Amino acid sequence: MVKKVIIPVAGLGTRFLPATKAQPKEMLPIIDKPIIQYLVEEAVASGVEDVIFITGRTKRAIEDHFDFSTELESHLSKNGKKEMFDEVRNIAKLARFSFVRQSAPLGDGHAILSAEHLVHGDEPVGVLFGDDIVDSVVPCLAQLGEVFKKHGGIVIALETVPRSEVHRYGVVDAKKISGNVYEIKDIVEKPNPKDAPSNLVIAGKYIITPHVFHELKKLDNSKDEIRLAYALKNIIGKMPVYGLKFEGKRYDCGSKLGLLKATVDFGLKHKTVGKDFRKYLKKVSKGL
Ligand code: UTP
Repeated sequence: MVKKVIIPVAGLGTRFLPATKAQPKEMLPIIDKPIIQYLVEEAVASGVEDVIFITGRTKRAIEDHFDFSTELESHLSKNGKKEMFDEVRNIAKLARFSFVRQSAPLGDGHAILSAEHLVHGDEPVGVLFGDDIVDSVVPCLAQLGEVFKKHGGIVIALETVPRSEVHRYGVVDAKKISGNVYEIKDIVEKPNPKDAPSNLVIAGKYIITPHVFHELKKLDNSKDEIRLAYALKNIIGKMPVYGLKFEGKRYDCGSKLGLLKATVDFGLKHKTVGKDFRKYLKKVSKGL
């Protein structure tokens, strides 16, 4: 049902400077695949056909990554590297890609609003932030899609974190309606742990409808960034907003520690280096 996703990648990626001075943080690899490809693969495995990237300066590498690379392909083909040739070529065939430039980095909500003209009628659209990778049996966006199919509204990915960490997230006040599905009553941004309504926090994956664009346009950007979380807070009461405590492990690849954890876990499962990496980690851990 959800055939389109918006992936905002126009942020400055300051937490990874100087690595991100001239290259997108979304192109940082987990072993041999850039973070952004994991997100696109999640979307495609969830039934998405159209991927809209919101880009900015220094993000050209993302466009090139999802395009054909004639020179590289003919080199691989000439050298009989069939498997690698197929892998490289298939990236460009994963979906239909569109690129919209965000005029200035005025916030994740402002980035999403830049794609308004590409979303029509009441069409639901997935939003995947460039940082959050979920390792799961059923792709996280597909899990959100199931909730949307049943309930409609807006659907937000949720996870539980220790209370001591809630100050880093948007925290929801929510009522369980079935299994892992919640109806969200309020969103509190980065609360003090003692004032937090719960320890259920928002992960960077959503299904929204064009109503959200209207709420984004109403936000005042004179004091703060235009954030999706603010628009979603304001939409509560006007339309139902659901949360799904998804199945799977989330990695915050926008932080150094998150990217390191993803590298270790994905490295251990990697088909060519996994075995040797495990041996190496065992050796290292003895010295800790
Ligand atoms: P982040 O909060 O992670 O910001 O954005 P950032 O700039 O990417 O990284 P740091 O904090 O400086 O290290 C969340 C998502 O929203 C996008 C980012 O690219 C990321 O996918 N974003 C953020 C935009 O597209 N435009 C913006 O103006 C802000």
